[in-house]
Amino acid sequence: MARILLTGGAGFIGSHTAAVLLERGYDVVLLDDFSNAARDVPERLRRVTGVSLPLIEADIRDEAAMAAALAAFPVDAVIHFAAKKAVGESEADPLSYYDSNIVGTVRLLTAMHRAGVDRIVFSSSATVYGEPDVCPITEAAALRVTNVYGRTKLVMEGMITDLVRTGTLKAAAILRYFNPVGAHPSGLIGEDPRGVPANLMPYLCQVAEGRHPHLNVFGDDYPTHDGSGVRDFIHIMDLAEAHEAALRRVLARDGDFTVNLGTGTGYSVLDMVKAFASATGVKVPYEIVPRRPGDVAACYADPTMAANLLGWHATRGIETMCRDAWRWQSKVALTNQAP
Ligand code: UD1
Repeated sequence: MARILLTGGAGFIGSHTAAVLLERGYDVVLLDDFSNAARDVPERLRRVTGVSLPLIEADIRDEAAMAAALAAFPVDAVIHFAAKKAVGESEADPLSYYDSNIVGTVRLLTAMHRAGVDRIVFSSSATVYGEPDVCPITEAAALRVTNVYGRTKLVMEGMITDLVRTGTLKAAAILRYFNPVGAHPSGLIGEDPRGVPANLMPYLCQVAEGRHPHLNVFGDDYPTHDGSGVRDFIHIMDLAEAHEAALRRVLARDGDFTVNLGTGTGYSVLDMVKAFASATGVKVPYEIVPRRPGDVAACYADPTMAANLLGWHATRGIETMCRDAWRWQSKVALTNQAP
């Protein structure tokens, strides 16, 4: 079975992908610098899967460390998750985003090239579409980034497709994620943002837990069915399974492809509040506040390309997303309260 290196493997999407790959018999090597991931993720993954994973603690910008990792663990492909991902922070400190994301990816790709590793699956984001002209968004939609974080994703996409075109890489998958939410059904791994979460679902869960008095709903005057923002929330396990499907194709065929990973259905912020109550029995208080600068009214995917190329489509609905997010969040709360 193939052996795969996951950069950023201890993060939210990386850890769930690791769980799916292990269940499906791949050898997985985790690499993370733990700058935005909890130290106990590898141990939690061991409890979920029964496998003790090789772990390399390194920064992708450290090319010598990348070379050493690839020498110690010859791999068939890399799934490259490691990146900074906060829009606000990227605008406040753009150079650190260019350095971590773009320079880091150059170093990783250089180490891969020298080690003869020429297949990659890359974490991109629907943020590359900026404000879409129409929804659902196909991969052919205009790319118009509106912030530094989005710029780094677009640059990294371009570097990787250039490397395939020039024969430096044999195969690449560019995966444009919509809004990943939920958690592993075991409740043992999930999203664990540092500080006060900026994203909807982790914040909503923390309100449910009593850590904040209410959810701020950023705007109820958008041209959507109930006025609140509409997004394509996708269960993290569906997203993780899509990585395995993309990986299979990258291992089997040369060339590159770019696909949206979403459900194809948009739900509003208020839909999520209602789904959370009906899935968990916990009613989350909310207040309508002004729009958040930079937000778009609606953003959801046309996931047809992923279905055609990968034979994959999302199967889990918003109630499952809410139930699984809450199972994880309430366990984390219990763990945090333990003596
Ligand atoms: C954000 C990023 C996007 C990134 C993604 C990662 C921005 C502009 N976009 O997407 O680049 O890839 O996270 O998951 O930051 N909302 C509230 N109250 C809250 C939090 C959010 O009402 O406390 C609303 C937002 O206005 C939006 C929706 O919930 O309508 C989703 O927000 P969020 O989870 O932050 O994701 P995006 O903004 O879609």
